[in-house]
Amino acid sequence: MTKVTFIEHNGTVRNVEVDDGLSLMEAAVNNLVPGIDGDCGGACACATCHVHIDAAWLDKLPPMEAMENSMIEFAEGRNESSRLGCQIKLSPALDGIVVRTPLGQH
Ligand code: FES
Repeated sequence: MTKVTFIEHNGTVRNVEVDDGLSLMEAAVNNLVPGIDGDCGGACACATCHVHIDAAWLDKLPPMEAMENSMIEFAEGRNESSRLGCQIKLSPALDGIVVRTPLGQH
């Protein structure tokens, strides 16, 4: 199990614990975290799973693939902390990761 902390734009904090191997998007959807829809089911085709990764965790993630990089261009409020949640698989190495949901998705 991996712990994930989601922080909404309004400051609401949700701590969830999910099976390893699930994506950040699945962790959010399975736990009804607002602001992350995952409309395409994780196919990297919708950008509704856009999240901002806490600075302390950014370097621990694998780099973006070209497909994620091009799809995330459509995400409102993209910045250097932006990733698509469906492309990040959870594992013990990411236990405790902190992510924020963007204002535009609420
Ligand atoms: Fe659609 Fe991530 S769920 S791009």
